[in-house]
Amino acid sequence: MIVLFGSRKGGCGKSTTAVNVCAALANRGNDVVLVDADPLSTAAKWVMDRDENTDLSKVHCIQKYDNIRDTLIDLNNRYEYVIVDAPGKDSRELRTGMTAAHKLIVPFKPSNADLDTLEDLQRIIVEARDFNPGLEAYGLMTMVPTNPVIRERKEASEYLEDYPEISLLAECICERKVYRDALPEGRGVVEMDNSKAASEINALIQRIF
Ligand SMILES: Nc1ncnc2c1ncn2[C@@H]1O[C@H](COP(=O)(O)OP(=O)(O)OP(=O)(O)O)[C@@H](O)[C@H]1O
Ligand SMILES: [Mg+2]
Repeated sequence: MIVLFGSRKGGCGKSTTAVNVCAALANRGNDVVLVDADPLSTAAKWVMDRDENTDLSKVHCIQKYDNIRDTLIDLNNRYEYVIVDAPGKDSRELRTGMTAAHKLIVPFKPSNADLDTLEDLQRIIVEARDFNPGLEAYGLMTMVPTNPVIRERKEASEYLEDYPEISLLAECICERKVYRDALPEGRGVVEMDNSKAASEINALIQRIF
């Protein structure tokens, strides 16, 4: 299964969520490859840091840019899960990735700046479905303040009513320091001492796979 993390907005938590999903899948004994399609290489650097700690379960990584479609299809024949981290903008990687992916996860912060980019993204999703009619698209709220989660969710779901091509996931990722701390260690939050963050990632995996 190919799961693409993509958005038209930078800094909304694509790389963080993608690497955490990979770490959790690898811990469950799944065969997972992370495709870093962003020249910023956040995900590939995380894998390099992870490789330094031989106690951690293996996440394979491939960096691929421009047209990533054939690479994703090929990897899907070799791995159980292909997790793709796309650049934070409308890009060739995002568009070609969407023609091959089974699921697109669109992380967004509960802020107008992030929500305002969804209209354009919905248009891109509709275009991608001309080539890949089965593409499922899900909105994932990230970096949600831990206190008023309910209010943030209500506001986002009202907003997303205007974008029916993107289904809002009930699961969300809160703003937690442990996500920032785990990244430079090449770890996922499931490998840190924070059960709340680990539960968020496990719930997301349960929902997507
Ligand atoms: N749930 C979270 N809690 C706290 N900090 C987070 C969380 N998710 C991401 N961050 C932090 O926010 C910043 C942006 O996250 P990240 O790099 O994952 O976003 P991105 O969408 O991949 O950005 P880009 O579009 O630039 O690739 C990073 O510093 C990251 O550590
Ligand atoms: Mg990124």
